[in-house]
Amino acid sequence: MTVNDRTPTSSGFYVTEEAPIHADNPVRTPSSPAPDILRCAYMELVVTDLAASREFYVDVLGLTVTEEDAETIYLRSLEEFIHHNLVLRKGPVAAVAAFSYRVRTPEDLDKAVDFYTELGCRVQRREDGFVKGIGDSVRVEDPLGFPYEFFHAVEHVERLAWRYDLHTPGALVRLDHFNQVTPDVPKAVRHYQDLGFRVTEDIQDSDGVVYAAWMRRKPTVHDTAATGGDGPRMHHVAFATHEKHNILAICDKLGALRRSDAIERGPGRHGVSNAFYLYLRDPDGHRVEIYTQDYYTGDPDNPVVTWDVHDNQRRDWWGNPVVPSWYTEASLVLDLDGNPQPVVARTDASEMAVTIGADGFSYTRKDDAEETPEYKLGHQL
Ligand SMILES: [Fe+2]
Repeated sequence: MTVNDRTPTSSGFYVTEEAPIHADNPVRTPSSPAPDILRCAYMELVVTDLAASREFYVDVLGLTVTEEDAETIYLRSLEEFIHHNLVLRKGPVAAVAAFSYRVRTPEDLDKAVDFYTELGCRVQRREDGFVKGIGDSVRVEDPLGFPYEFFHAVEHVERLAWRYDLHTPGALVRLDHFNQVTPDVPKAVRHYQDLGFRVTEDIQDSDGVVYAAWMRRKPTVHDTAATGGDGPRMHHVAFATHEKHNILAICDKLGALRRSDAIERGPGRHGVSNAFYLYLRDPDGHRVEIYTQDYYTGDPDNPVVTWDVHDNQRRDWWGNPVVPSWYTEASLVLDLDGNPQPVVARTDASEMAVTIGADGFSYTRKDDAEETPEYKLGHQL
């Protein structure tokens, strides 16, 4: 069944009971049970200029320094009680060293080892952790080429939620999600479903091509998303604010600092996730999303939302265009030896190509007579 065979909701998207995504080329499902993932917990980023990154994440965005030395900075958001949500490590090539998830029990690390070993993946385990503040940890090169980490034991630090004297107008309060670029989205979704993730939303076309999917463990729209493109690469890491006005305050601050060129896209309202958003680029080009006010997804029968790729309100509810760099640029990811993973080209249709410019089209109202080329600022391409 494709988007054209279904009846849209009054909001214009489609709803099903279970993820309407089929993988033609799935990763094998292991017989070993998956580890019980609680949530996305932190990302380890390699940056080329630690001082420039510190200025961006600490002085501009206001993340809290838990600990730092000459090579590494450990940062957390204001509501966090675990050691960090972001590790900035100085290195020669800007890249992602780990997408790290917290699991429910220490025994879940044994499950992670068995799960990935059965898939033939490279697996490393360190009783003392790979970074400060984290105990027994498992790192893998997952079947899609991403460096995934799992841990349970972690050093607790003070939760600064009540320390309003430390809050800035653009205060970042939680790590919300990761976003991964991968050539084959259905393959990624099927594999992450095997790992225990539930799909909450996706973008498809009438031929069943899947352009992106959002997947969750915690009861929000996502802990990670798969975006179709050349990969494996990291599209963005997202921090949450309490309210929309906090995001506007970040824009105002960047303008006042004459750093508006760090703003890549937004602010705006997403169609997918219904969240308010802003995309920034850090000094190395790593993309950071500031995100707020998506919706609760924790019931087992949470409806799955599917958007038509030609719906011009899917990525921005106000119909504002997605800038080309947002579709094409992303960060390299590292293997367990610290070398960048080779990037494989996407062979399915590109979302940018099918929605923008001479060959693509988008609609605001599906029932309008003609499929018209994008009518708004997308003509910039
Ligand atoms: Fe996001």
